[in-house]
Amino acid sequence: MTKIAIVYFSGYGHTAKQAEAVQHGAAAAGAEVTMFRIDANGDLPEITFETLAAQDAIVYGSPTYMGGPAWQFIKFADASSKPWFTQALKDKVAAGFTNSASVNGDKSSTMLFFFTFSQQHGQIWVGTGLMPANSKEAGPDDVNWTAGFAGALAISPSDASPDEAPRQGDLETARLLGKRVAEVAAKLRG
Ligand SMILES: Cc1cc2nc3c(=O)[nH]c(=O)nc-3n(C[C@H](O)[C@H](O)[C@H](O)COP(=O)(O)O)c2cc1C
Repeated sequence: MTKIAIVYFSGYGHTAKQAEAVQHGAAAAGAEVTMFRIDANGDLPEITFETLAAQDAIVYGSPTYMGGPAWQFIKFADASSKPWFTQALKDKVAAGFTNSASVNGDKSSTMLFFFTFSQQHGQIWVGTGLMPANSKEAGPDDVNWTAGFAGALAISPSDASPDEAPRQGDLETARLLGKRVAEVAAKLRG
C-alpha cells in the first residue's frame, strides 16, 4: 500500500480542514495516510522522522503567516537537518498546501518555501495538475479558483470560522491534490 504522510501546522483550525481534505483524497485513492500535526511549540513526536523515512510521499502544509510558513513549520524544517545529512527522506514524492485570509496574501512565498525544502531533501515535487477556474462566472466554490499550480491554495476570510472556511472549492482542490499525490506515488512504487 502506498504510504503518505501529511505534515502540517494550523494555528486556528482552518489549515487543518485543508489537511483533512488532502487526507480524504489520498485515502480514497488507496493510500495509507498518516497525519502529523505540528503542535503550538513547533514539535512533533520523537519517532516522526523514522516514520517519514518509511513513506512514499510527504505533503507539507501551513497557513501563510506574514508572507511565509508559520514559525512552527520552520522549526520542523530546521529539525529535519538531521535526516538531511543521510538524505533519509530522498526520492519521496512531495507536495504542499497553504491557506490564508487574503486572496493572494503572499501564499506563493509559502509554497516556494515548501518546494525549496523538498529539493533540499532530494524529493520529487508534484503540483495540482488542475486548470484554474478564472472565468467571469467562477467563484470560491469552484475547484482551483485560487489558481494554484504549484500546490493547493485556500482562502479563509479573516472573520470566518473553520466551519465556514476554507470554502468548498478550496477543499475540493486540496482533495484532488491528495488524490494526485497518491496516484503519482503509487506509479513510482511500480
Ligand atoms: C501571525 C499571522 C500572520 C498572518 N499573515 C498573513 C499573511 O501574510 N497573508 C494572509 O493572507 N493572511 C495572513 N494571516 C491570516 C491567516 O493566514 C488566516 O487566518 C488563516 O486562515 C489561519 O489559518 P489557521 O487557522 O490554520 O491558523 C495571518 C494570521 C496570523 C495569525
